[in-house]
Amino acid sequence: MASALSIDATFPAPVREGAAAPLLRTERLTVRFGGLTALDNVDFEIRRGEIRAIIGPNGAGKSTFFNCLTGVLRPTSGRILFNGENIAGLPPNLISQKGIARSYQITNILPNATTLENVRIAAQSRRHGWSMLRHHSAYRDIIDKAQGVLDAVGLGAKAGELAANLSHGEQRNLEIGIALATEPQLLCLDEPTAGMSAAETHDTMELVRRIAKDLTILIVEHDMQVVMALAQRISVFHYGDLLAEGTPDEIQQNPRVLEVYLKT
Ligand SMILES: Nc1ncnc2c1ncn2[C@@H]1O[C@H](COP(=O)(O)OP(=O)(O)O)[C@@H](O)[C@H]1O
Ligand SMILES: [Mg+2]
Repeated sequence: MASALSIDATFPAPVREGAAAPLLRTERLTVRFGGLTALDNVDFEIRRGEIRAIIGPNGAGKSTFFNCLTGVLRPTSGRILFNGENIAGLPPNLISQKGIARSYQITNILPNATTLENVRIAAQSRRHGWSMLRHHSAYRDIIDKAQGVLDAVGLGAKAGELAANLSHGEQRNLEIGIALATEPQLLCLDEPTAGMSAAETHDTMELVRRIAKDLTILIVEHDMQVVMALAQRISVFHYGDLLAEGTPDEIQQNPRVLEVYLKT
């Protein structure tokens, strides 16, 4: 009895999947374009449920990082572990099916489709397209789901509107809806408030906070007020390196970060 107890006590605590393990982790992630190193051995980790901002001067490697995570770019070397599985170099559609979605800096909306159709097409890509056409109820499900996503991003009343007729801010939120419709675990937002008015920026921040309840969010953002108000932690990229990481307060006081930002 006593020996069984002591053996038991020396065993490590059972690993609780999801609690301790990071949702995403990169190991020595490196991208070279000819002689230029855009990402240099980046070790990065994000936990489930976190909102993380990525900041850094132009050319720091932020978009390259997103491109690797979403399969747009094949890294030169290194690993990208998502739920423990190495996804580096997989094509974008496979990565999307595994649960990583992205809203682009440059719009990828279909302007001549309605707001609802834009989201419906994204929702459908998540399931099997062919069965959708055969089963009316499955099709109905997709429509309901698309409408739910539109409600979540504040565009419920604009379902029948052509996407082209939405305001710039509404289009940016529709992009978030398109990304959400693929039911991601990790949502990557590339400057979601770019070009928005102050009021639209405020609404989009509220939107990101709302959807963050069930999601993990990585956000590249230039607007420091948005970053500081939204992110729990911030990662600072600089010439392909991860220069610093910390809470908004820590980052604001970090001498290396201040130096980089004062120089640019
Ligand atoms: N497809 C590409 N071919 C060659 N160089 C690239 C390519 N994409 C990005 N770069 C270079 O890699 C560096 C990082 O770029 P990028 O990731 O876009 O930075 P950021 O998004 O932080 O502004 C820059 O020097 C950029 O010019
Ligand atoms: Mg960029």
